[in-house]
Amino acid sequence: MSEVGTYTVEDGGIGVMTIDNPPVNALGIAARLALQEGFRRFEGDAAVKAIVVICAGRTFFAGADITEFGKTPQEPNLLAVLDIIEGSSKPVVAAIHGTALGGGFELALTCNYRVAVPSAKVGLPEVNLGLLPGAGGTQRLPRIVGVPAALDIITGGKPIGAQKALEYGMIDALAEEGKLREDAVAFARKVVAEGKPAARVRDRNEKLEEARADMGQFDAYIAKNARAWRGFKAQVAIVRSIQAAVETAPDFDAGFKRERELFHELVTSTESAALRYYFFAEREVAKIPDIGKDVATLPVAKVGVIGAGTMGGGITMNFLNVGLPVTLVEMNQEALDRGLGVIRKNYENTAKKGRMTQEQVEQRMALIDPKIGLEALADVDLVIEAVFEEMSVKKDIFGKLDTICKPGAILASNTSFLDLNEIASATSRPEAVVGMHYFSPANVMRLLEVVRGAKTSREVVKTAMELGKTTGKVAVLAGVCHGFIANRVMVQRSLQAEQLVLEGPSPQDVDQALYDYGFAMGPFAMADLVGLDVTTRGVTERTLRTDLVKLDRLGQKKNGGFYDYDENRKATPSPVAAQVIADLAKFKGVAPKGALSTEEIVGRLLYPVVNEGAKVLEAGIALRACDIDVACILGYNWPLYTGGPMFWADTVGLQKVVDGLKAAGIEPAKLLAEKAAKGESFTR
Ligand code: 3HC
Repeated sequence: MSEVGTYTVEDGGIGVMTIDNPPVNALGIAARLALQEGFRRFEGDAAVKAIVVICAGRTFFAGADITEFGKTPQEPNLLAVLDIIEGSSKPVVAAIHGTALGGGFELALTCNYRVAVPSAKVGLPEVNLGLLPGAGGTQRLPRIVGVPAALDIITGGKPIGAQKALEYGMIDALAEEGKLREDAVAFARKVVAEGKPAARVRDRNEKLEEARADMGQFDAYIAKNARAWRGFKAQVAIVRSIQAAVETAPDFDAGFKRERELFHELVTSTESAALRYYFFAEREVAKIPDIGKDVATLPVAKVGVIGAGTMGGGITMNFLNVGLPVTLVEMNQEALDRGLGVIRKNYENTAKKGRMTQEQVEQRMALIDPKIGLEALADVDLVIEAVFEEMSVKKDIFGKLDTICKPGAILASNTSFLDLNEIASATSRPEAVVGMHYFSPANVMRLLEVVRGAKTSREVVKTAMELGKTTGKVAVLAGVCHGFIANRVMVQRSLQAEQLVLEGPSPQDVDQALYDYGFAMGPFAMADLVGLDVTTRGVTERTLRTDLVKLDRLGQKKNGGFYDYDENRKATPSPVAAQVIADLAKFKGVAPKGALSTEEIVGRLLYPVVNEGAKVLEAGIALRACDIDVACILGYNWPLYTGGPMFWADTVGLQKVVDGLKAAGIEPAKLLAEKAAKGESFTR
């Protein structure tokens, strides 16, 4: 026995080492020592003829221990352990259940054989952490599946089911579900009985030699994916590493050396640090300090949604997708029919793309119970209101729900800005009222802000958070304030953008700077896309947008907005918009301050977001800086490889952020100024 390893010898001389390193058998130092010890024992035991490596708990090794990156390595390192496995004088069988990922699958690839249960998945997801598989994955996988498949599998980073993996040759046999250990031992016995020399993946070169016929495929693959990979480093490094495998074959070690060099470049990069931070951040946001395991969740078997518009329809789809029936309520038949039509069309488009069957479309549609009037919500466990953003309307609805809904039902509002406590005050059960704030399109965007009112019960908060997870969202907890987390911090970007163009830079300068930073589009292109009339509803003061709307420039849909558009919706700088900007600058007495560099524009627009993030933290609206980062990345497509505004600010240096804010005449938040003065950071 070692701390996490158990070693037994089964009939026929099969040494079985079972590694148990919860929760996911990451290959941290304890697991590595246990493997080293197992091989030492079985190598020295003449009675052992073959070795099975298997894991206890929910999964085979889920990869290297990500928390160890950046720390002083403890020996034996992963590569040394893989050398021991590959150098074993006895055949080694990996017995896989759960997910064999990253270093875990790379370990399996150094075994002579791989056996998996049908429910298992294998893969190399390192790309999601801004890394490449650095324990031989880019060298061994193409030797099995060939270069084109290896490029797709490793740059895609998605795990592959056991059946498909068998077809690819990534595993050698399927075991019976629930009988992995017996079947893997039987497999090992057969290997011993047949007495064949144990093959090693590293010695297989045919597929690499085949690939030499087309050495242009690597550049072509990078060019084909350039747009999707913008800002990310790991994908190109993966292609180059596979290319090195081809160039150096049959010299495995030469290709592997290149893989290690590229891995080192990535693991020390800011992009990978950001992606690794984000991996843990997504898990951290689920943790709420005062809501532990002792707090029960409430049963939700039937959901009600009020409003069949874009938002209500999208919210409804989230529940249908996981088989939860929804009573969808509208005030008149026409709106209800329109809403149902949009939902059906969305599903049918998905079916057309081959991502669901027509039968599944019908199954999901059949889960909707369309109704007129709130009375239909008497028996639902959760109702989500998604109507017009107007306090009096919401209070009226919640007052009615209070009398209609059964005791214990959760009453949720999808409000994006309004005071949830005031909405709750319209009921006699404020403990049942919670915010469930979705981002449009609600069936696509992964962020769900769960808004905790002053009186919301812990059970209700926990249930809303867990429902987020069940429906494929990442739920982030927010306190009550105008705009909660994502909208509140991100509005700063738009406000600054509109101020900045009055001072000199053009809309295209600003949009280009943010595009280069990594956003899919800048705030002006976005405003034109959404429609300037939409974003100026209720605005009474004179702004660039209201001035453009007065000229009937509503954006892409009508006469252009900040840009002019041709018939293909291609944008060009607009002389009319330039004049509108100049006129408003004059009206407001804003003096031109001249051109700014891209870096200055980015700082001017995004430092205020960080500043607002600090205020959100100070006020306890967000629990941690990582909650803000997750909200901005998932709610506003903030570039993932920067880690979100708060992580990014740490990489910039908080003092620089403070100086930038002051230069723009913006008062730094107290928390930000304090942290900067002490040399502290938000996320590390
Ligand atoms: N290292 C350290 N901790 C890990 C980990 C890893 N590789 N993988 C998961 N964890 C932790 C999580 O942070 C979480 O911790 P918490 O409970 O304290 O929040 C816990 O394990 C459980 O994880 P999940 O909540 O994600 O559990 P799920 O059951 O939902 O998912 C999983 C399990 C599919 C294995 C998922 O955790 C996962 O995808 N893990 C990462 C896999 C990965 O990226 N592997 C490659 C690592 S890099 C590498 O191997 C480099 C090599 O090439 C040299």
